[in-house]
Amino acid sequence: METVRLTNRGAVAIATIDNPPVNALSANLRAALLQAVTKAAAEPEISAIVIAAAGRTFVAGADISEFGKPPVSPLLPELLAAIEASAKPVVAAVNGAALGGGLELALACHARVAAPAAKLGLPEIRLGLIPGAGGTQRLPRLIGGAKAFAMMLSGESVSAEEGLALGLVDGVIAGDLLDAACAVAEMLAANGKPVPISAKTDRLNAAERGDFELVAKSALEKAAEMPNVAALVESVRNAFDLPFEQGLAAERALFVKLIADERSKALRYVFFAEREAARVPGIDASVKPRPLARAAVIGAGTMGGGIAMCFANAGIPVTLIETSRDLVEKGYARVRDTYGFSVKRGSLSEAERDERMALIAPAVGLQAAADADIVVEAAFEEMGVKQQIFGELDRIAKPGVILATNTSYLDIATIAAATSRPQDVIGLHFFSPANVMKLLEVVRPAGTAEDVVATGIALGRKLGKVAVVVGNCFGFVGNRMLAQRTRAAERLLVAGALPHEVDAAVTGFGFKMGPFAMSDLAGGDISWRMRKSLGLKAAVADALCEAGRFGQKTGKGYYLYPEGARAGQRDQEVEALIARISADQGVTRRAFSADEIVARLLDPMVNEGARILEEGIAARPGDIDIVWLNGYNWPAWRGGPMHWADTVGLATIVGRLEAQAAETGDASLEPAPLLRRLAAEGKGFSDLKAKAA
Ligand code: 3HC
Repeated sequence: METVRLTNRGAVAIATIDNPPVNALSANLRAALLQAVTKAAAEPEISAIVIAAAGRTFVAGADISEFGKPPVSPLLPELLAAIEASAKPVVAAVNGAALGGGLELALACHARVAAPAAKLGLPEIRLGLIPGAGGTQRLPRLIGGAKAFAMMLSGESVSAEEGLALGLVDGVIAGDLLDAACAVAEMLAANGKPVPISAKTDRLNAAERGDFELVAKSALEKAAEMPNVAALVESVRNAFDLPFEQGLAAERALFVKLIADERSKALRYVFFAEREAARVPGIDASVKPRPLARAAVIGAGTMGGGIAMCFANAGIPVTLIETSRDLVEKGYARVRDTYGFSVKRGSLSEAERDERMALIAPAVGLQAAADADIVVEAAFEEMGVKQQIFGELDRIAKPGVILATNTSYLDIATIAAATSRPQDVIGLHFFSPANVMKLLEVVRPAGTAEDVVATGIALGRKLGKVAVVVGNCFGFVGNRMLAQRTRAAERLLVAGALPHEVDAAVTGFGFKMGPFAMSDLAGGDISWRMRKSLGLKAAVADALCEAGRFGQKTGKGYYLYPEGARAGQRDQEVEALIARISADQGVTRRAFSADEIVARLLDPMVNEGARILEEGIAARPGDIDIVWLNGYNWPAWRGGPMHWADTVGLATIVGRLEAQAAETGDASLEPAPLLRRLAAEGKGFSDLKAKAA
């Protein structure tokens, strides 16, 4: 397929990039573009060149799938050097997203015009990288070192209008972009090219340097674990200190080194796994989602209110239903307060808040769900309650309406059996706070119609969530694995670790919070109630709850929270209690290193993940990772539990699990057959093929 089309319009040659889906700068495209520009430069009747793009995107950057493979000539910096050095002016017609190498391409041109819908950004930082084709050298020269650094550090893109204000583009064109680009090209051909960005130095002054160094200092403090932040600082500093060519060479060297870094590999893996998760094996892409014009949410508690906000934020009118006027008013007021915080923080205007509140209609009684296209039940977590609601909804809801439950643990097939239309019933498991957390587990019991699953995924996208389709089992994917970590954390306490040691090991690994600080924040009573209902025991956790230590809300849990402190303090009483429990169980306590703690917490999760894959509850290891990254704050640069397991080596994990199983006599720690098999074959989870959920 031809990736670049060269056409002439008068004396202007137009090189149109056409490399669907997003015009990524793959080796073929780089070669074709270089050839097109070289050809146009050699044609005597051509006086200027326009680089344009087909489709919605200008250029989404380098082809990420090529990273880590042997480099193929021409490399992007070589192509861009040729463009900038062209004797004939080259103009970029930026029709849509110009990201990463796409923006670097535009910066190598002699002028840039953009459509109003264009987005411009250097998001390499999110992939654990820095721009590697001149971005760190050209952007500071064009818009100033401080602003350029901030833009590359955040990875956020700017709109065409913002780009114009920054001096990133020379014009925003409401009319025909190509006409305008050709006109600019002709003008430059007639009047002479401007100084190329690489030769500009006026924005690299002392004031800019001072501003940049200030932001750089705080960035380095905040992201100590990310080598690309340090590399970005170094490279932008080079823009101030070194001639362009040397700065460019140093940038490339840093970029190449980062490509090989495990953290960048993990982030690139996540990029593709997230997109893959949207494709459900066994459901054809031609299956159409059902139209959703109006929603209803049952239950106006924290969860129900948060879900209603998700719909309102996406512009979908939603009825928020409770059993009494008092309860619905309380729920509605809580939603208003939550929006109020955003208004106070400045992330939402008052008008926007009012618009969103106007989309939420409080109502009493299930009858109010009669006109909804989707109903999400977020009522009390008890099977009897859910079955009653679904039985009633079956009588009230229109045919074809999607009946969803937000249950975290209950069997959705049993809930669906309360209706005469189980094919329309699905789980939509939001995570708290629902209006913030990105994850949506779309739970698919056997018998749910394909288009209902497709609607769940489409809805997730519409709500700005990352939707992952999972099978129906206790705790689905996320909570089922979390339960393993919780048990392992309790086991560690009894074996000899203390809560602050476990939490420190977990935050040292990269989580924002350790399991005990998390339990104190969420309230230990919730899992206590759950354990009691399932007949499960956890000696330390149970003893704390029996003593009324539910965590932050009672001022004490695993830690002490004097006068409402948010950060817990060690408590001798708890540590003595833990020692007593160890003694009661005949355990001789011993010290654990941070690495041992991490292994003992995470290996059982990986083992459960393997079982989840064996059972087809998740289709791919990547789906499990996406759940953990978006629902449980797993550090993105560690790629998720299954990716992490691959980096450790499955044979190592099997060995550690066997040792733990022998030590504790807990058969659930025996490695899952899938884990054993992969380890024996010297393979990783990444070698598995997808299986229908
Ligand atoms: N390389 C390879 N594939 C890419 C890609 C890239 N840069 N960008 C997107 N894709 C693929 C996706 O994997 C997806 O493939 P699939 O259909 O097989 O799953 C397809 O293109 C469509 O992508 P999205 O689903 O993300 O489409 P959207 O329309 O939602 O978003 C986008 C489009 C905003 C361009 C988004 O894809 C995006 O943000 N892309 C990545 C941008 C990026 O990070 N660029 C920097 C790359 S690194 C670089 O340029 C280094 C340089 O400095 C040398």
